[in-house]
Amino acid sequence: MKTVRIDTPSRSYPVHIADNMLDRAGELAAEHVGICKAAIITDNIVDGLYADKLENSLRKSGFDTVKFVIPSGEKSKNAENFLLILNFLAENGLSRPDAVFALGGGVVGDIAGFAACVYLRGIKLVQIPTTLLAMIDSSVGGKTAIDLSSGKNLAGAFYQPNIVICDCSALETLDYEQRANGFAEIIKYAVICDKELFEGLKVPKSLDISDIILRCVEIKRDIVTADERDTGRRQILNFGHTLGHAIEKLSGFTLAHGKAVSIGMAIITKACENAGICENSCYNELVQMLNRYSLPSKTSHTQESLFNAAISDKKRKGEKITLVLPEKIGRCFLKTMSLSEMREIIKLGI
Ligand SMILES: NC(=O)c1ccc[n+]([C@@H]2O[C@H](COP(=O)([O-])OP(=O)(O)OC[C@H]3O[C@@H](n4cnc5c(N)ncnc54)[C@H](O)[C@@H]3O)[C@@H](O)[C@H]2O)c1
Repeated sequence: MKTVRIDTPSRSYPVHIADNMLDRAGELAAEHVGICKAAIITDNIVDGLYADKLENSLRKSGFDTVKFVIPSGEKSKNAENFLLILNFLAENGLSRPDAVFALGGGVVGDIAGFAACVYLRGIKLVQIPTTLLAMIDSSVGGKTAIDLSSGKNLAGAFYQPNIVICDCSALETLDYEQRANGFAEIIKYAVICDKELFEGLKVPKSLDISDIILRCVEIKRDIVTADERDTGRRQILNFGHTLGHAIEKLSGFTLAHGKAVSIGMAIITKACENAGICENSCYNELVQMLNRYSLPSKTSHTQESLFNAAISDKKRKGEKITLVLPEKIGRCFLKTMSLSEMREIIKLGI
């Protein structure tokens, strides 16, 4: 079992990574949340695949379990389901020593994490990510959220889990598309700060997925522990995301997060190359990498529609917005710019 220890100002916790971890979830969780009532929150797809395994493991270790299932997909990360989960916790009598177990991808992790934070002003939280994206990104770092009709993740809180358990065996049931989504975020980590990881991703067959998850969690740990509340360095993780969120929104949330971020990364990198900000080979290298993992790099949206969708991003501060710009593969920096500069960047990138 590989373990990364995350020490943030608000909480310290381990991220455990290995095969067949669901069988050990009860034993591992007991160490960090104590034997208690466990409210498993999951979606209908993951429920059919892994909930029984988790429940068995928890019961074997002495947990009392209850379960709430939401429909799978981004549309479920909404205020209505959020309230349903809170009411479910209340109706089942969960109290302060009890715990929410978020079993699923980033959608479940985000909404269940937010519910754990708000219910009784905070009960314990165990993240059990089952998608690649959730293992390398959303389950770690404490961002929880739901979407509002005006945009993604507009209501949420910083709330660190007590433990994260990544069962790599669960990735076997992920379809190709969902794996590719995870690889979009892995490519993001490589471009922002790890050239060696980028080189490794050029030979997919040589990759050990648990090593990649470990490396990504380490990168996220280093960034998040230095800036838990996302006021500075942590924003580097948003590479490709301001435009990615805009593209996701313009698609009516039908385009997957990873694909939208891929296009966002490509637009920004092309713009930086055209503006002489980053090395000349950067854009080609990135596009080749995205192609290798069947990820898109282009959009048919116009400059103006992208701009309008992007400026509603929550990262905007008045007439200024901070973008993550690449200098070369393995190094990016933050630049706060006016909205008209941002419009220019989009023009250079599409
Ligand atoms: N909190 C954060 O820091 C953070 C970071 C990145 C992304 N996110 C959020 O994460 C969400 C995207 O996460 P996601 O890509 O995991 O999406 P998701 O949770 O919708 O999961 C994708 C699909 O895979 C299915 N699935 C999950 N595990 C499976 C498994 N093992 N086998 C087969 N199918 C499985 C789900 O049912 C769903 O249909 C977005 O809402 C995004 O905003 C949050």
